[in-house]
Amino acid sequence: MNEQVTFTIFGGTGDLAYRKLLPAFYNLYANQAFQHAKIVVLGRRPYDHEQYCTIIKDWVMQFARLPYRETLFQSFCEKISYVCMDFTKEEAYDTLAAFYKQHQDTQHIFYFAVAPRFFSTIAQGLLRVPHAKQGRVVIEKPFGEDRKSAKRLNEQLESFFKASHIYHIDHYLGKEMVRNIQTIRFLNPLFANVWNHECIAHVQISAMEEVGVETRGAYYDQSGALKDMVQNHLFQILSILAMEPLEAFTQEDLHEKQLTLLQQLRPVDQLNIQDTMVLGQYFGYQKEAHVAHDSTTETFAALRLYIDNERWQNTPFLIRTGKKLNKREMEVIITFKAPFPNVEPNVLIIKIQPTEGVYVRFNIKKPGNSEEILPVSMDFCQSCSDIHRINTPEAYERLLQAVWHADTSWFSSWDQIETSWAYVDALKERYENAQLPVYIYPSGSEGPQASYELFTMQPQGE
Ligand code: BG6
Repeated sequence: MNEQVTFTIFGGTGDLAYRKLLPAFYNLYANQAFQHAKIVVLGRRPYDHEQYCTIIKDWVMQFARLPYRETLFQSFCEKISYVCMDFTKEEAYDTLAAFYKQHQDTQHIFYFAVAPRFFSTIAQGLLRVPHAKQGRVVIEKPFGEDRKSAKRLNEQLESFFKASHIYHIDHYLGKEMVRNIQTIRFLNPLFANVWNHECIAHVQISAMEEVGVETRGAYYDQSGALKDMVQNHLFQILSILAMEPLEAFTQEDLHEKQLTLLQQLRPVDQLNIQDTMVLGQYFGYQKEAHVAHDSTTETFAALRLYIDNERWQNTPFLIRTGKKLNKREMEVIITFKAPFPNVEPNVLIIKIQPTEGVYVRFNIKKPGNSEEILPVSMDFCQSCSDIHRINTPEAYERLLQAVWHADTSWFSSWDQIETSWAYVDALKERYENAQLPVYIYPSGSEGPQASYELFTMQPQGE
């Protein structure tokens, strides 16, 4: 990475910058992957360079993956410039332009670590900054509240930045085992050759969380599990799991295959919504700070979806996510069809977090004088050693490096985002129109009872 780059963080005194971005930059710096870059942090508070470095020291100590070293941190800090500016004021961008001029900047990467309502104000302000238009921009979710608002936001951004320079962060795409799905799936004939409806009974993608909405009640109550987790993270995983094999092995090829898959989800108007989705809310959610006392926002969603193509004919894709559940666990479970009714099916589990690994269950003959069939397993734990933890970059480190390398394969593309918004909007609308309940479930449970029924039902045709 010899290109001179300037990362500018809008929202440099916010939680995302402190908790994720600066610790990730520190890790990159410690690994010598950051020698040619500078960080410009923009914030409204009147800090000087030293004050800002003192503040971020604690965050780096607490959240960086690599051990804190004082001399390393001090030289890392030399890479950072804090610029006090109110990014909602157009004239403030003249100061920014003057600042860049002094520093002979090169390639610009702008990180919008702020609420989406500020995106167009910032883009407008950047018109005053020479060369900013050729820069790359990184944006966080939520990208809109529905398809319509996301489209508007996208048009605003594209009127300023080149479409190919807009990087939509989905931090799940930076997770080690999400990145590993393609390798496990395509580079092992053991799995690659049976990855279809003839051999697979169903696929489950499960993202369970123990935490509730914590301090994010105001945002979450306007969002809910479908928009917060399904539309982005889980649909991205679904598309990588189920897409057709790559042919050209390029970033474009990957995005195209994922998009095609999302477009092949069985249209919502062809689904019986009762047999498709269950929404729930944890008991006590309405008492959380900044949540409406009569809120019906879902904190749990379970879906039973189908993909209408040759490969997946009638294979159920079961998606489940929720807060305040009995465990924190994210995994993909592929259950194969059993060859005989009395034999346990083979199962492949791709464990994404907190444990990273791969589990396979298969059948053997019971040892000894018996013809009984015994299901046994192999359980590969990738994250069980300390060396692994120290050597594995965190999601944000990978994503910052990827934007630097202009590697879009680590990001979701606008057309995927638009397609998944349209699908989630339609699901929500049908559920509301059918007046289906948002089931209350106890904290520390596995979610509403109705979701087990949804997952275990056997509708005709499957
Ligand atoms: C975020 C959601 O995108 O992902 C949060 O907004 C959720 O509600 C979080 O808790 C989960 O991320 P992770 O990396 O902890 O699984």
